[in-house]
Amino acid sequence: MKMKGLLDKIKSKSCIIEIFGLGYVGFPLAVKLSFVGFKIIGIDVNAERISRLKNNELQDSEELLKEKFIECRKENLTLSEESKESKLAKIGIICVPTPIPDINISSDIYVRKAVKNFLNNAKEGDCLILESSVEVGTTESMQKLIEDKGFKIGVNFGLSFCPERIDPSNKEWGIENIPRIIYSSDDVTFEISKEIYNNVNGGNLIRVESPKVAEVVKSFENAFRLVNISLVNELAILCDNLGINVKSVIDAAATKPFGFMPHYPGAGAGGHCIPKDPRFLLESAKKFQTNFDTIENALSINVKMPKYISNSIENSIKKLGLKKSILVSGLSYKTNVEDMRDSASFKIINELITNGFEVFGYDPYFKKEVTKKYLIENNLKEMNFSRVDNLDEEVLKKISCICIVQHHDISRQRIDEIYQNSKIPLIYDCQNKIRKDPDSKTILNCLGN
Ligand SMILES: NC(=O)c1ccc[n+]([C@@H]2O[C@H](COP(=O)([O-])OP(=O)(O)OC[C@H]3O[C@@H](n4cnc5c(N)ncnc54)[C@H](O)[C@@H]3O)[C@@H](O)[C@H]2O)c1
Repeated sequence: MKMKGLLDKIKSKSCIIEIFGLGYVGFPLAVKLSFVGFKIIGIDVNAERISRLKNNELQDSEELLKEKFIECRKENLTLSEESKESKLAKIGIICVPTPIPDINISSDIYVRKAVKNFLNNAKEGDCLILESSVEVGTTESMQKLIEDKGFKIGVNFGLSFCPERIDPSNKEWGIENIPRIIYSSDDVTFEISKEIYNNVNGGNLIRVESPKVAEVVKSFENAFRLVNISLVNELAILCDNLGINVKSVIDAAATKPFGFMPHYPGAGAGGHCIPKDPRFLLESAKKFQTNFDTIENALSINVKMPKYISNSIENSIKKLGLKKSILVSGLSYKTNVEDMRDSASFKIINELITNGFEVFGYDPYFKKEVTKKYLIENNLKEMNFSRVDNLDEEVLKKISCICIVQHHDISRQRIDEIYQNSKIPLIYDCQNKIRKDPDSKTILNCLGN
């Protein structure tokens, strides 16, 4: 009965939605839902983030949302460091980080804190939706937290798990057209969730029968990607040895109209999803004293890529008799994004430094003012390379090689110019994207020949 009341209130938008975690997942969601008329409280424990948002200071990837964000803040979107008490019916949506678990930290540490914060002010008839990518069993532990507060799931309190699937910088598939998997504790909670996601992806929700199914789906999708990335990276290493181009192999294989999905080589998967979520399946397998060897192998190949790349560069430098001075271009974990979390570039830099290189780093998305954050995100104590702001002639004079880890669109033209005009002795392209130009005197080495 109580849950039905919330459904009616959502339909008339006379409820409050609290979104916990205003990062890559939570921020666009907060803007989207407030723009269509929901009263949103955007909550983030990072006081600096809240203060920047209050000054309308957004990250590069959020700039497109700036106008809408400013508009929403006039009425529907408020910002806070914690949950607020309200007489109105409430929904909490959890979009906080879920770290790799180890002996010091559990993957649900932030989810648990955010859920507890929501429950401090929760009433009968409220509802919680988890969007963070969680380890198997997390949704059921959150159910326990809710029940410990005296609520009855499916009777007077709703719970859904609807993992975000966003692929940053993907121009074809975004928050508005990616179908979503969802587990809901009961039919009314599913209807409530559907009303909300109607405003996100047109309510394209695939309901699954249990929280565990939904949790495994999310991690398995990213395991599939990790395994294929590692598979193609090992293929690239074989192609280096065979002296054939890995791209020719992949493109020819991709002419098969079924059973093959092309993946392309690179310095290794990074970011807060692909190298992390598959570990949740490993943790789950461990609890049954079983292995998940495919994931273990894929992870260990992923870890080896930076060393392989650094050694390949070192061999070329030795062969050509060049000085050990290099610029690594594209520091983020993915092309055309500013996100530097767990990025292969920082690992390549570490390897190069260990091998005695002087290293410069360049990324048009690098923001000096958040350097400390980048260091934490990459387990670094200090900046161990010299950062440069551009690829001008003065910079080129100092180096004998450019290692391109990410070909961001905004630096592509300059890189092509450097190659075509033979402005540097050696380029190593981790993404195998530069077309060989017989007129260039620059030696071009690519991962996968
Ligand atoms: N970034 C992606 O592309 C992506 C895609 C799909 C799924 N996910 C998943 O979504 C979740 C969030 O990822 P993200 O990339 O948005 O992370 P993020 O680091 O960009 O943002 C998370 C925000 O949550 C805040 N936070 C931490 N604890 C909090 C708490 N208790 N209450 C309120 N705020 C809190 C942090 O300060 C941070 O600003 C993760 O589980 C991630 O695996 C991310």
